[in-house]
Amino acid sequence: MKGIILAGGTGSRLYPLTQVASKQLQPVYDKPMVYYPLTVLIASGVRQFCLISTPQDLPRFRQLLGDGSQWGTSIEYREQQSPEGIAQAILIAESFVGKDPVTLILGDNIFFGGDAFPRAFGEFQSGATIFAYHVKDPERYGVVEFDSEGKAVSLEEKPAHPRSNYAVPGVYLYDNDVLGIVRAMQPSPRGELEITDVNKEYLRRGTLRVQRLSRGTAWLDAGTSSSLHEASAYVQTIEKRQGMKLGCPEEAALYRGFLSHDQFETLVNSMPQCEYRDYLADLSAEVKRVGIKSA
Ligand code: TTP
Repeated sequence: MKGIILAGGTGSRLYPLTQVASKQLQPVYDKPMVYYPLTVLIASGVRQFCLISTPQDLPRFRQLLGDGSQWGTSIEYREQQSPEGIAQAILIAESFVGKDPVTLILGDNIFFGGDAFPRAFGEFQSGATIFAYHVKDPERYGVVEFDSEGKAVSLEEKPAHPRSNYAVPGVYLYDNDVLGIVRAMQPSPRGELEITDVNKEYLRRGTLRVQRLSRGTAWLDAGTSSSLHEASAYVQTIEKRQGMKLGCPEEAALYRGFLSHDQFETLVNSMPQCEYRDYLADLSAEVKRVGIKSA
């Protein structure tokens, strides 16, 4: 499965922070926002990535993430000239996707807890898999309606009168048919290629799987200054309590076997002295002592 990380957009709600660095480069407590979705995909076994951002921001992402080999992965980069819709990412990454299935994740979606993603990625065979998450304000998102048997029956983008409280988070898994579906699509009245339209087409074909995320999973929004601050506070609280980091690609790469223990140690030793390095050095020592206990 190939992985697209979409990290463009205008980030206007985070002005003036986004004047010099895009939303997905902003810190969420102790690491850049994009580390969190990247880690979700690495932990789910995705190894080949294409990161898409604006022409202005792309050089910064390259500087931050490089070619991905430090985590035993590969990362390519592509520009989105203007924010013409989330589904446009699939067209931009078409040559990267090739004949493979692909997952698309939004660079500002932050998830913690549960094993829903690694499980869904492991089970994925064909069609599309998307997720549903209970929220208080569904009108801000794509909304999925279920029938009495829990089967998805409708999808609507930012409906004024939502038919359920289940929003669709920004992680989508598609088989290779997605290329043909997006190629045939027209922009919506707001001028965007809508990801909800892609999902609706899979629903129409009867090949859409909608998996509900349990309340044990947190899906955080960091699109406004106050929600960004809250996301940071949340990460700090969990990390302090558990002594384990969230959104740490090095750790996920080690657990997933993308890096050997020796490669992991070399990577840690290349970092400047800081809390992040101390954490990874402790983890390295622990893994040496007791092996890998959990993902
Ligand atoms: P939004 O939060 O809808 O938009 P935004 O990030 O530009 O923020 P604001 O509303 O404050 O201006 O976008 C959701 C995510 O999708 C976000 O990570 C940006 C990304 N995105 C793109 O990269 N390209 C696009 O064409 C669109 C529509 C979104």
